[in-house]
Amino acid sequence: MPKLKNDTLIRALLRQPTPYTPVWIMRQAGRYLPEYNATRARAGSFLALAKNPDLATEVTLQPLARFQLDAAILFSDILTIPDAMGLGLTFTEGEGPRLERPLREERDIRKLAAPDPQERLGYVLDTVRQVRSALSDSVPLIGFCGSPFTLACYMVEGSGSADFRTVKTMLYSRPDLLHHLLEVNCRAATAYLNAQIEAGAQVVMIFDTWGGTLGAAEYREFSLSYMRRVLQGLKREHHGERVPSILFTKGGGGWLEAQAASGCDAVGVDWTVDLAAARERVGQRVCLQGNLDPAVLPAGKQAVRAGVAAVLAAYGKGAGHVFNLGHGVSQFTPPENVAALVEAVHELSPAYH
Ligand code: CP3
Repeated sequence: MPKLKNDTLIRALLRQPTPYTPVWIMRQAGRYLPEYNATRARAGSFLALAKNPDLATEVTLQPLARFQLDAAILFSDILTIPDAMGLGLTFTEGEGPRLERPLREERDIRKLAAPDPQERLGYVLDTVRQVRSALSDSVPLIGFCGSPFTLACYMVEGSGSADFRTVKTMLYSRPDLLHHLLEVNCRAATAYLNAQIEAGAQVVMIFDTWGGTLGAAEYREFSLSYMRRVLQGLKREHHGERVPSILFTKGGGGWLEAQAASGCDAVGVDWTVDLAAARERVGQRVCLQGNLDPAVLPAGKQAVRAGVAAVLAAYGKGAGHVFNLGHGVSQFTPPENVAALVEAVHELSPAYH
């Protein structure tokens, strides 16, 4: 296999020295970019875009054409798994995702099977292969999936929710049933990430967007333990290269030690976490990824530069930091402020290495 021209992200994730802090941005391909909106309009909808490997490859590469990012992230969605399970995924403009057949009956949950990624998610694997070929080993490609618990939230609620009442009611009234669902999601996520790795994903990330809404004991039992099992089931190497893994629980700052012991190489942290304290707490075990508040981005270039400086200073000197936002970039972000962020990381971070 040819070597990556820029392997800064891989090295940082493995806590090896780098000349500067690598940077990529959650949701770097998205609605804040006019060229993304144009391609999505051509595709007809978000889902049509995600299911068309040519167009999904095009939008994966769009942010890299604008900004000096150290990684590409596969353009797709975590809800491709419930879609492949037959729950009927739709996205309505301005409303977010909706599943037509949410899981409410025990018999539907008992019937559920983990989809074969080659059979049901071939379009994602085709996109991974096409992006890898288009990147020609310039920067690594990150693949991803949703955590078993976060997937279950959407599968049971049928959409996003302010309080996740239905899934939490199931957690407390029928823990056995939720465990069954998480078990299926765990097998699905493991097979899906391994298929992405075989297709060419060089890093994998588990997005646990809703694990942080749980109590501490429930987080360990219903979210973290299943992510640990996904991590244990992953191919650690592909073609002789390590495939680092990132675990990100939004709102999970209270449980960093447990996350660091889960078997991942890196822990993503949101902006509510003090990066200096987080580094103390995880010690030498993992790399940290994050954690600028995405709300800084619309505030202007000076605010962005100050925010970047503060995050870099909080982590401090040495290896093991990947610069990112604490959550996805919002659609109301001026692209030139993202440019300012990336430039500031490249300019200010060498002093810390
Ligand atoms: O980071 C990237 O650039 C890769 C692409 C990516 C998308 N979704 C594209 C997308 C990734 C990694 C995701 C993950 C995802 N999807 C998560 C976990 C990360 C997170 O944000 O917490 C979740 C919870 C979802 C489910 C989802 N998809 C929601 C709630 C929404 C609607 C909210 C929103 O931001 O619009 C989506 C739609 C979606 N996924 C968009 C994009 C670019 C916007 C849809 C559009 O173009 O209309």
